[in-house]
This record gives sequence, structure tokens and C-alpha cells, in this order.
Amino acid sequence: MKIIKNTVMLIALALAAPISAETSDSSNTAPATVEEIASGICAGCHNADGNSVIPMNPSLAGQHAEYITKQLIDFKATESAPPKRNSPVMSSMVAALSAEDMKKLGEYYAKQKATPSQAIADEDVIKMGKILYHGGNLESGVPACASCHGPNGSGIPPHYPRLAGQHAEYTLTQLNLFNAGDRANDNGVMLKVLTRMSAQEKRAVSAYIATMR
Ligand code: HEC
Ligand code: HEC
Repeated sequence: MKIIKNTVMLIALALAAPISAETSDSSNTAPATVEEIASGICAGCHNADGNSVIPMNPSLAGQHAEYITKQLIDFKATESAPPKRNSPVMSSMVAALSAEDMKKLGEYYAKQKATPSQAIADEDVIKMGKILYHGGNLESGVPACASCHGPNGSGIPPHYPRLAGQHAEYTLTQLNLFNAGDRANDNGVMLKVLTRMSAQEKRAVSAYIATMR
């Protein structure tokens, strides 16, 4: 009985060998679940619950599912076209994800509770950002951010992302990328908003957004 069992196991091992050599994990042949992808790949930079502790990496917790899925699609290069949103780091992260994975990752992070990190900036700077966010700048013609991203920064799904509590560093980087035309996966909407904004206003509004709850 024991000999037969051992022989069966040996045959099974021999058959499995070429596969395990390729995947390096022969015990798990089922496709990865969204939780496995999130904890195994994304957590290193966005944290397990999507509340990133690294200011350059965006928090994803509480972001609209549709917006997250759209960004993941935009980061991915296709056979015929380069990615619509350029980020070498994220493009390599999404290369192996299926359309279904990207949809489920959006739903996964949208469900996580946002715990925004404590923002640090001068009161004056935050106050300037607050005025700009809610009222824009009538003199220079900057529209109010609130008109598209909502008075409390919660965004309007599916097209207008949530901004509230996002790291100031990440937000400022995105504003500069939009302004330079290096991020244009929004049909140029944000470029129009930013062309009349000063560097000081961009910093101030980013600092204010980090304080929004
Ligand atoms: C090595 C670090 C790293 C890993 C791992 C990583 N990301 Fe990112 N992610 C970033 C950085 C940096 C950005 C900002 C990219 C930019 O615009 O320059 C980003 C941006 C994003 C955005 C856009 C957010 C927004 O507000 O527009 C989404 C969505 C995202 N990542 C999801 C994921 C998912 C899902 C995974 C796992 C499959 C993942 N990331 C793994 C570093 C990482
Ligand atoms: C006319 C509508 C509109 C207005 C006004 C507007 N935005 Fe946006 N914004 C958008 C859209 C649409 C996107 C999503 C782009 C995409 O799908 O990738 C966006 C994206 C962003 C992002 C990227 C979010 C992320 O997670 O990567 C930031 C940051 C941002 N806006 C900040 C602002 C600020 C600050 C203001 C005010 C100065 C502002 N927006 C005014 C429409 C608007």
C-alpha cells in the first residue's frame, strides 16, 4: 500500500517538475485572488489597506472603484500603443494584470477605509489653498476645484477622483505632471485648470487637500 502511494507521488512530482521550475511555486496553481495581488504586490508601496505611508505613493483607500480601474488600464501598454498615463513603476506592476483583476482591485481599494496621514504645513499656506480650492481665483481665471472634485474632496464618480486626505507631495507631483503635459489621460481637463495657476498656488492647494477629511 505504502509503496504504491509513494510511486504515485513520485510520478506526480515528475509530472509537476517542469511546471514548478517555471512558476517556482508548485503548491499554488490557481490564479491569484485580488487579496493576494494586493498583499503580495501592491502593499509594498500602497500599504495593505491602501493607506500609503510614503508621501510620493498615492493612497488608494476610499478612492472610487471606476477611477482606480481606469488608472490601471491607462498605466498598461498595449501591443499598438504606449501607456496613456506614463509611470514606468506602475506600468510594470500592471503588465501581468487582466481586465478582471483591474476591475476587482478597484472594488477592493474603494472598500478600504481611508485613514489620512497628518498633514504638516503653515496655517497661511493651508488657508490660501482652502480659498483657491473652494472659490478658484477669479482674477486669473482658475476654476474652483470643488466644482469637479466636490466641496469635501470626495470627488464625483466615475470621472472625478476623490482628493481628500491625499499626500501633498503626490498631489503636487500630479499637478506639475498635468501642467507640463506629461500626464494627459484626462483629455486635457486638468491642463486647462492649471495653466493659470502659480507654483505657490499649486503648493498651497496640495497642502490644503491633505488636510481635507
Ligand atoms: C514600487 C512601488 C509601487 C508598487 C509595488 C505599486 N505601485 Fe501603484 N503607484 C506607485 C507610484 C509611485 C504611483 C504614482 C505614479 C505617478 O503618477 O507617477 C502609483 C500610482 C498608482 C495608482 C494611481 C492612483 C491615483 O490616485 O491616480 C493606482 C490606482 C495604483 N498605483 C495601484 C497599484 C496597484 C493595484 C498595485 C499592485 C498591483 C500597485 N499600484 C503597485 C508605486 C507603486
Ligand atoms: C472641470 C473639472 C475639473 C476641475 C475644475 C478640477 N479638476 Fe482635477 N481632475 C479632473 C478630472 C476629470 C481628473 C481625472 C483624470 C483621470 O481620469 O485620470 C482630475 C484629476 C485630478 C488629480 C489627480 C488625482 C490622482 O489621484 O491622481 C488631482 C490631484 C486634481 N485633479 C487636482 C485638482 C485641483 C487641485 C483642482 C483645482 C485647482 C482641480 N483638480 C480642478 C477634473 C477637474
